[in-house]
Amino acid sequence: MDRRMRVSAALIFFMTTLMTIAAFVPGADGPVSRQDALEGGNTTLLCDSTPDTADDELMLLVWYKDNAPIFSFDARTETKWSSITFNTSKRLQADIRQQPTALVISDLRGDDQALYHCRVDFLLAPTRNIGVNLTVIVLPSQPFFLDELGNKVENKIGPYHEGDTLVLSCLVIGGRPPPRISWYSGEDLVDASDGVSDIPGVRENELYLPLTRDNAQSLSCRATNTQLTRPVITALEIELYLPAYNVSILWVGGTDGDALQAGKPAVARCIAHGSYPSPDILWWLDHRHLSQHSNQSIINSSNTAISHLELTPSVGDNGATLACIATNSAMAPDRNSKADVVVLNVTYSPLVEIIKEGDGRLNEIVELDTLHLTCDSKANPPIENYTWFFNDIEMKPNSIWGSVTNTQTLKILEVERKHAGRYSCAAANSVGETRTEALSIIVYYPPECAKGITLVKETLKCNVNGLPEPDTFFWHIQPSGEEIQHLTTGSPVLPLSQVTGGLSGLLEASCEAGNGIASQDKPCKRVFSLEQLRPPQPQQCDLAYEYEEFQMRCVPVENATYYEVSVWRMSTSNASLLLERRGSMGFGVSQALAQGGGGPWLVRGPLGTLKMGDEAAASACNRYGCSRPLLLRPSENLLDAAVTPWWKYKDVGISVGAIVLVVLFITSTSLLIRLIRRSRRKVPVIQVLQLDDVARDYLDTIGEHKVHASCSLRSCSSGYSDGSTESAPAVDRRRKPRTLWEWEPPPPDVTLTLHRESAV
Ligand SMILES: *[C@@H]1O[C@H](CO)[C@@H](O)[C@H](O)[C@H]1NC(C)=O
Ligand SMILES: *[C@@H]1O[C@H](CO)[C@@H](O)[C@H](O)[C@H]1NC(C)=O
Ligand SMILES: *[C@@H]1O[C@H](CO)[C@@H](O)[C@H](O)[C@H]1NC(C)=O
Ligand SMILES: *[C@@H]1O[C@H](CO)[C@@H](O)[C@H](O)[C@H]1NC(C)=O
Ligand SMILES: *[C@@H]1O[C@H](CO)[C@@H](O)[C@H](O)[C@H]1NC(C)=O
Ligand SMILES: *[C@@H]1O[C@H](CO)[C@@H](O)[C@H](O)[C@H]1NC(C)=O
Ligand SMILES: *[C@@H]1O[C@H](CO)[C@@H](O)[C@H](O)[C@H]1NC(C)=O
Ligand SMILES: *[C@@H]1O[C@H](CO)[C@@H](O)[C@H](O)[C@H]1NC(C)=O
Ligand SMILES: *[C@@H]1O[C@H](CO)[C@@H](O)[C@H](O)[C@H]1NC(C)=O
Ligand SMILES: *[C@@H]1O[C@H](CO)[C@@H](O)[C@H](O)[C@H]1NC(C)=O
Repeated sequence: MDRRMRVSAALIFFMTTLMTIAAFVPGADGPVSRQDALEGGNTTLLCDSTPDTADDELMLLVWYKDNAPIFSFDARTETKWSSITFNTSKRLQADIRQQPTALVISDLRGDDQALYHCRVDFLLAPTRNIGVNLTVIVLPSQPFFLDELGNKVENKIGPYHEGDTLVLSCLVIGGRPPPRISWYSGEDLVDASDGVSDIPGVRENELYLPLTRDNAQSLSCRATNTQLTRPVITALEIELYLPAYNVSILWVGGTDGDALQAGKPAVARCIAHGSYPSPDILWWLDHRHLSQHSNQSIINSSNTAISHLELTPSVGDNGATLACIATNSAMAPDRNSKADVVVLNVTYSPLVEIIKEGDGRLNEIVELDTLHLTCDSKANPPIENYTWFFNDIEMKPNSIWGSVTNTQTLKILEVERKHAGRYSCAAANSVGETRTEALSIIVYYPPECAKGITLVKETLKCNVNGLPEPDTFFWHIQPSGEEIQHLTTGSPVLPLSQVTGGLSGLLEASCEAGNGIASQDKPCKRVFSLEQLRPPQPQQCDLAYEYEEFQMRCVPVENATYYEVSVWRMSTSNASLLLERRGSMGFGVSQALAQGGGGPWLVRGPLGTLKMGDEAAASACNRYGCSRPLLLRPSENLLDAAVTPWWKYKDVGISVGAIVLVVLFITSTSLLIRLIRRSRRKVPVIQVLQLDDVARDYLDTIGEHKVHASCSLRSCSSGYSDGSTESAPAVDRRRKPRTLWEWEPPPPDVTLTLHRESAV
């Protein structure tokens, strides 16, 4: 055993020394495989040491580096050996048990690159050799950048504008085998054209890159010379000015979907992506800049800017364009901004207005015309239904309104007076319901007779209804026994003063009004008696004997234009009063009472001579006829005063009488003047004779100018006289220069002067 050990040791020694002489020849001595390993890493050299046949056995295994042994294993003695110059820091490990046997070299150095081979000796079989051509890869240095001027660039370069060409060299020192240098944008290769630089041991790749938003994002330079590990990478940040590329408006509050509601605040968010540096975000609504309500926040990492806008839209903003504009102020104005626009959909409760269609008249319509009303509306979203109101009460389909009352238009084919009133309509959509102001519709209709014609004082009034108020009145007036008169007035009133002719009889009147709509269908008609317009009966009258005749003197009554006096005499054949004569008197002004200085004026009617039993009557008259007469009977004293002197009847006494008369006249005149002066101081007394009812009734009929059969106090008679002036006595014109039957206003200061006597 000892001997055997010694022999083998000697053999190993021999063999190893021998082998240094006989070098390994690749291919010829055995196959060579290629193996790469990283500097600083480890590698495993494999060698198959199993015998080919079962009866053979392993004798010796030796690993050589470039033909110098670095490790051996003697299977006969189970001894391992390693070169102490190679197996430094225990970097060599061998595992004999596993097949193929593995020799692991760690902590590889650059000079470990060599041709290694393994020699296996067997007891029987011939020696086996395999080679391993080990390449130790030395990684290059970290790439670094130099700009065109040769300045070193660290981490970041710029700023550039989009489209500028970036010219930059990426350099790498060392590396075995020589590394490939490539420019990458993200994972995309942009430039692989590397080469050696002027500096020894340095390789470079000069980049010419037109910059875009995409390729400038993450630019890097990669150097690699092996598959065994990742490339050596240096990234470069490029500051590139960019406009926003995506601006979008989004509703974030106050909306229903994308629909806004008028008057309700809504919040819009605008996001601008990709602008560097961060943009200014401006809001515009149509051409209006919204400055107050916006604010802006920025997320630097993702080049995102966000702005919020609180907007309270109005109805008029429906369809307006809301724009969000992101402007990069660092860039040229022509390509620095990007915008998003949305069209506002502003919903609102309908805006409604009631309109009368047709002739342009705002709210007037003529009876039987067609009333056509439209509920003019504006709404978003569209109107769903309409409601109509009449005098503030909702219309239900019925006979007045027809069967449909919920459409946009309301049509009444033949409008009637009951359709006049206040109309309004309401329109509803999903937002709300709005009702219009009321429109008052006036229904015009032609005049029609209401109360007919009435008499008020001295005017006729035509009482008609009609809309508008009638403004033209056509009158047809016929006083009895006269021609018909056609008159036109602009008001419903016709003063009787416009009617010509006598009005003491009946008056047939008709009126027809016009209001511009249509003429009156049936005129108003009426027959009037105007008796009540006659003056009142004279109340204060007396009889006097003046100027050698009897006078009826009366205090004027209101509204009398003239007076009538008459004398009635008892018939000789029967007991009835007959009209003796008649005439008029007075002055015709009703204001007579109000004038006159000292006392009342009097109207005076000459009666001629009166006999015993005669009665004198006075009545006040105007154009409507005469009042009932007042009857007076002369007193005996008065009759006595009127007795004719004897000389008046004798022709013989004329000459004597004339002389006597002259003497008498002179003396009596002077006496009279004195009497007058005395009597003027006395207040004149007028006694009023009141008649009983029967006599009054009788005389009433006489007042009509016509006397029919009538009864007096004394007898019944049928007297008739036509007021014959012929029967009046001759007038004594000597002392009374006035004509008997003419109207004459009384002189202001001449009243009663002579022979004042009282009536009975
Ligand atoms: C060899 O290197 C690998 C990876 O680098 C490692 O996992 C392994 O443990 C190393 N082996 C030895 C023996 O050092
Ligand atoms: C390398 O040397 C160390 C100690 O110096 C030893 O433990 C180890 O076994 C040696 N390697 C081989 C393969 O012999
Ligand atoms: C070993 O590899 C190197 C390159 O890595 C080569 O130049 C050399 O010729 C190779 N040797 C043999 C023997 O194949
Ligand atoms: C813009 O951004 C929005 C949301 O951020 C996105 O949905 C849209 O696709 C983008 N458009 C483009 C052209 O990038
Ligand atoms: C506006 O919004 C309303 C409610 O969502 C919708 O009914 C209507 O169709 C929209 N109008 C437009 C023009 O988009
Ligand atoms: C964003 O960047 C600008 C300058 O580029 C800086 O002033 C600002 O403070 C940054 N904001 C945040 C939130 O990082
Ligand atoms: C302003 O922006 C902040 C978020 O940055 C937001 O919470 C706030 O509501 C905005 N104000 C308005 C008025 O939009
Ligand atoms: C009209 O529309 C409103 C709102 O859509 C609804 O509430 C109402 O009942 C409708 N009226 C009729 C009569 O259809
Ligand atoms: C006189 O006529 C006027 C106007 O018609 C009237 O008001 C007045 O009552 C009349 N007087 C008398 C006494 O009838
Ligand atoms: C009375 O006499 C007059 C004639 O003096 C006569 O006209 C009249 O008819 C008579 N009347 C009566 C009732 O007989």
